[in-house]
Amino acid sequence: MAPSPRTPPTEFRHFDLTALPNAARYKLLTATVVPRPIAWVCTLGDGGVPNLAPYSFFGLMGSDPPIVAFAPGDRADGTPKDTALNIAPGGEFSVNLVSAALAQVMSDSATDFPHGMAEAAKLGIELEPGSRIAVPRVRASPATLECVEVQTLQIGKTRIILGQVIGLSLRADAVLDEEKHYVDTAALDLIGRMGGRGGYTHTRDGFEIARMTYAEWVEREG
Ligand SMILES: Cc1cc2nc3c(=O)[nH]c(=O)nc-3n(C[C@H](O)[C@H](O)[C@H](O)COP(=O)(O)O)c2cc1C
Repeated sequence: MAPSPRTPPTEFRHFDLTALPNAARYKLLTATVVPRPIAWVCTLGDGGVPNLAPYSFFGLMGSDPPIVAFAPGDRADGTPKDTALNIAPGGEFSVNLVSAALAQVMSDSATDFPHGMAEAAKLGIELEPGSRIAVPRVRASPATLECVEVQTLQIGKTRIILGQVIGLSLRADAVLDEEKHYVDTAALDLIGRMGGRGGYTHTRDGFEIARMTYAEWVEREG
């Protein structure tokens, strides 16, 4: 008989996250909650210097209004990361999604460059002006969400930045039908993060499940 998703395995290991140190919580959770999309966040620092860093504590929280959330954790010395410092209330930022071709340079941009250093320029990552915001986008990214901060929650050492997405730039070859808003997601060739260190996954091996109505379920169950 095929294994049923309704039949639980007989044994579990339970971890009390309230009793574990952060390194253990991080290892357990980042290895389990996968895959995580990656927000390659561009902001403007003092003097308009662009800052670019990846964040995989990131997700789409809704479409009405369209909201994204991502979470910079404070550094070990207790100071906020540059991305968090650069996003003032109501401030703008761009979320550049990461294709497989950009994986290495995205990872390189997570290096702890000194505050105020323009990592994009140092790494040869080309930026270009945003469409609706003053913050630039990564030219080679296949998709950019242009965002305006709506709220930042601070919970312990984590800041959760919520942004309203006011614009989406998609590489033209991935737009199947502009009028009907059909996107060729596979063409974006995005990667996701697996685990906490150097693990990633591709997103091209998707599959589909047709959603059913209650009437269809009744018919199927006989
Ligand atoms: C794929 C990837 C995902 C990451 N996700 C996060 C995250 O969600 N939160 C976080 O605080 N740091 C995360 N980091 C580490 C930051 O990118 C790194 O600390 C970076 O130097 C922060 O840059 P900033 O100070 O310019 O914002 C991630 C690194 C990588 C490579």
